[in-house]
Amino acid sequence: MAEVSTYRLLDGKSASKAIRGRIAQEAAEVKTERARAPHLAAVLVGSDGASRTYVDAKVKACETAGFRSTLIELGADTTEDELLALVHRLNNDPELDGFIVQLPLPVHIDEEKVTLAIDPRKDVDGFHPENLGRMVLGLPGFLPATPAGIVELLRHYGVRTSGMHCVVVGRSNIVGTPMSILMSRNSEPGNCTVTVTHSRTRDLAAITRQADILIPAIGRPEFITADMVKEGAIVVDVGIHRIEEPSRKRGFRLVGDVKFDEVAPKCSWISPVPGGVGPMTITSLLLNTLKAAKG
Ligand code: GUN
Repeated sequence: MAEVSTYRLLDGKSASKAIRGRIAQEAAEVKTERARAPHLAAVLVGSDGASRTYVDAKVKACETAGFRSTLIELGADTTEDELLALVHRLNNDPELDGFIVQLPLPVHIDEEKVTLAIDPRKDVDGFHPENLGRMVLGLPGFLPATPAGIVELLRHYGVRTSGMHCVVVGRSNIVGTPMSILMSRNSEPGNCTVTVTHSRTRDLAAITRQADILIPAIGRPEFITADMVKEGAIVVDVGIHRIEEPSRKRGFRLVGDVKFDEVAPKCSWISPVPGGVGPMTITSLLLNTLKAAKG
């Protein structure tokens, strides 16, 4: 008899809806106390299609949660100095609780310089070294939105992680590296034994097959196949890619770093793309902005 797969979805859309409901309530309280709603600004430089979609989703999420939002769109020819001047202006704007500069930036702008220029108290993306350092030391601060969203997703579904082997694929500053730290922290979710893998890892599949929790964040469409995953694993897919498909109205479909259809039947839990980590990143951004507004 064929085995019936029994995986459960780590549904980021549904989790976000519940969490954002609570955020909206708290935002209303903040608005009553301070006579203004939490206020997030998003800066978009250039016209990258995917970045625009993400920024639009962030602005829309603010509206739904009763936040104020400001979208600042700059041309692709904006100079580094112009962007730095804007960052300084936003740092000093008393009406603004937090802001983000959507990445990637055009190649002529140094992302590190821009990130360093953001006031850590308004850095609701959690990308500034001060906030990353605070995370490492377990001090209060803003956690990077995507890794924090993954922790919230696991918490929402009551997934126990203590003592498990978590394998993170990718070592980026904004996902892989902070994710590995959050999963090893003495907290629940957390308390994992963590392995960080990357493009130079030898025999990657042998390591991913040992994962109780697998978190691919490599930016390669459908890279993780069924043979790389252990039976019963928990898989959280951070990737999101547009695959051209002219027959669709939008002209593309979205896939993650995981070949979902063949991997899902082996999993105990798996997050879909879209509707998994993406909405949770935005939910974390709202949580960080609310925190900034509360001071
Ligand atoms: N680009 C991809 N993910 C993110 C994110 O979480 N924040 C910003 N600012 N840019 C991104």
